Amino acid sequence: VRTIDWQDGHIVAIDQTRLPAELAVLHIHTVDELIDAIKRLAIRGAPALGVAGALGVALAGGNRELAQRLKAARPTAVNLAWGVDRVLSRPDALVAEALSVLGEDVTVNRALSQRGADWLLDRIGPRVDVQTHCNAGALACVEWGTALGVLRALQERGALSHVYVDETRPLLQGSRLTAWELTQLGIPHTLVADSAGASVIARGLVNAVVVGADRVAANGDVVNKIGTYPLALAARRAGIPFVVAAPESTVDVATPTGADVPIEIRDEAELTHLAGTRISPKETRALNYAFDVTPAELVTVIVTERRTLAPDAAAPAATRA
Ligand code: MRU
Repeated sequence: VRTIDWQDGHIVAIDQTRLPAELAVLHIHTVDELIDAIKRLAIRGAPALGVAGALGVALAGGNRELAQRLKAARPTAVNLAWGVDRVLSRPDALVAEALSVLGEDVTVNRALSQRGADWLLDRIGPRVDVQTHCNAGALACVEWGTALGVLRALQERGALSHVYVDETRPLLQGSRLTAWELTQLGIPHTLVADSAGASVIARGLVNAVVVGADRVAANGDVVNKIGTYPLALAARRAGIPFVVAAPESTVDVATPTGADVPIEIRDEAELTHLAGTRISPKETRALNYAFDVTPAELVTVIVTERRTLAPDAAAPAATRA
């Protein structure tokens, strides 16, 4: 089953809020339904949002007002706006262009995964132990992931030992989605609390951190799920590589630095409540940043389908895109 697809003139997508308990499928016929699915993270992950944006414009018949509302559904992953704009630029061939975006997601992510696996084997092989964060797997894309795509490519080459997965508070993309994908793939893995990530690295349990990205700024700063930046700090302290796997559609040359990226702040209830029950005092306010910025200087390498960018080179190379 593809994470997101186009069937008989509408969008079909896995409802990621229901996993791992249930593999439920959503049938989305209107842009309002699509916006709702994106806001509640039924459809999530930067590349999948790009495809959702593209298919959404096809669903909207190219209606610009609906397209602008769709673009605003989530602010941080640049892929959503990228997918919307790409299809809007082809009013003569909306569905064909949206289907191109859908198909390219698979080939592009497979390509960057091979590039990432090559880099890791060259640098730290023959066996790689990895820490990852959030979900950058097939569920964040169409059918092949970015960071988890790299891990799949390593697995295919018999070079992946073990994966440590951060649970990824507060919406648990790690414990619900990444652990589910790794289970399906037969990849040995262990779940840890987000706050244990730096200790896993410091204890030498992994020899690389591999994550995805929601946006790479022109200077090479990487915006990804909240909790990524501390892993980069710990990786630098331990002297292990911090690897970012992302398609070119995630590289935003129009945004100079990470400080210029709009960081989504989500509902306080995601922190103050657990499974619908309030757990913190009712007077307590929460600040629920959904993403953080890892400065380029902490990023060892960014692999895309076209390039392998080292941190020093990231700014000029990204600007060339
Ligand atoms: O809030 P989410 O679940 O959409 O956040 C997703 C992430 O932060 C992923 O790491 C990122 O989109 C890369 S997915 C290939």
